Amino acid sequence: MTTMENVIVLVNRIQRACTALGDHGGDAAGSLPTLWEALPSVAVVGGQSSGKSSVLESIVGRDFLPRGSGIVTRRPLVLQLHKTEEGVQEYAEFLHMPKRRFTDFGEGPLFSSDTRLLGVIMGVYCFEIGCLVGLPHVYSLVRKEIQDETDRLTGKTKQISPVPIHLSIYSPHVVNLTLIDLPGLTKVAIEGQPESIVEDIENMVRSYVDKPNCLILAISPANQDIATSDAIKLARDVDPTGERTFGVLTKLDLMDKGTNALDVLEGRSYRLQHPWVGIVNRSQADINRNVDMIVARRKEQEFFTSSPEYSHLASRMGSEYLAKLLSQQLEAAIRARIPSITSLINKTIDELESEMDHLGRPIASDAGAQLYLILELCRAFDKIFKEHLDGGRPGGDQ
Ligand code: GDP
Ligand code: NA
Ligand code: MG
Repeated sequence: MTTMENVIVLVNRIQRACTALGDHGGDAAGSLPTLWEALPSVAVVGGQSSGKSSVLESIVGRDFLPRGSGIVTRRPLVLQLHKTEEGVQEYAEFLHMPKRRFTDFGEGPLFSSDTRLLGVIMGVYCFEIGCLVGLPHVYSLVRKEIQDETDRLTGKTKQISPVPIHLSIYSPHVVNLTLIDLPGLTKVAIEGQPESIVEDIENMVRSYVDKPNCLILAISPANQDIATSDAIKLARDVDPTGERTFGVLTKLDLMDKGTNALDVLEGRSYRLQHPWVGIVNRSQADINRNVDMIVARRKEQEFFTSSPEYSHLASRMGSEYLAKLLSQQLEAAIRARIPSITSLINKTIDELESEMDHLGRPIASDAGAQLYLILELCRAFDKIFKEHLDGGRPGGDQ
């Protein structure tokens, strides 16, 4: 791994450790919440069914998220992708059950070896679609866990909860990214939802994308007027200069005949600092026919290269390009923040050390163990930073 990859891995681990501590740490947490906020992430925002979960899946390169019409995503899902060495078996792990590795990526007639992750996490979707089209009821442990963990806080309702579910995927086939899937912005409360839900969802989404270190993936469907885009409206609000907003236009294949999205994609309708990325996700029919990710990406690429309108943009369109772009941006964001992250980490180390002195060496308590882990991670980060990234000064100087 390169030094930068090492740093990203550490950043991911610190994020997870901080979150774990959030539940137990109490006052001992000190500047950790601030540290968490200093670490970069990517969140997906947009209206309901604009294609948020589909875009996330494409970035990961795996079928795994609950998707479908209506309100499927009811709690934030914080998804950390960890790139592992080639040949290492993929696995998924929830923060709330750290001892358990999910390597059984589903089974049954829906899954080929290419789409085995389909069974892992996409439970709600699979469940819904399975019922809808009469496919066999496919059980997957991870899917069930997402459902159960959502229901644990919300009950089996259409209600939402701001408390995130944390999931990590370890795989040789991903890029190192922290992605946050959020419930879609809506305009009216539906049956079974409190009147406040429209506001509740917006506030929840805001609480993630307000943070200056959060890259915003603003998803708008191409078959709706961009002027009505909830994603752009919110992104413009929290990021007026557009420096951390990435405009993503989905459903290009669903535009009316005779129309195209060049005004948006070329930045004439709504200008963003970063160029717009057009996407063609799988349609509901593709999903029902079990078109797999590899085939879908190839079809997406063909859509752009063979289109008279879009072929000149083809090299910067599509999910694969978006994944690379995001990972580069995340790296740049980490690099830019290294000085402030480092000073926060030093502050945290000081606080944690005095906390340790105060508590004595923690052995049994969860909070103590977490504090200790974070301390170790912070020191590791600090060491890598000093050795390799500190403005070219050779070696650590202490
Ligand atoms: P979310 O609610 O924003 O997370 O949206 P989903 O990812 O669940 O997608 C909602 C529906 O739109 C699903 O049936 C998808 O198959 C469909 N969909 C999403 N993106 C596209 C696209 O680019 N083209 C087509 N044809 N359908 C899409
Ligand atoms: Na949806
Ligand atoms: Mg969704």
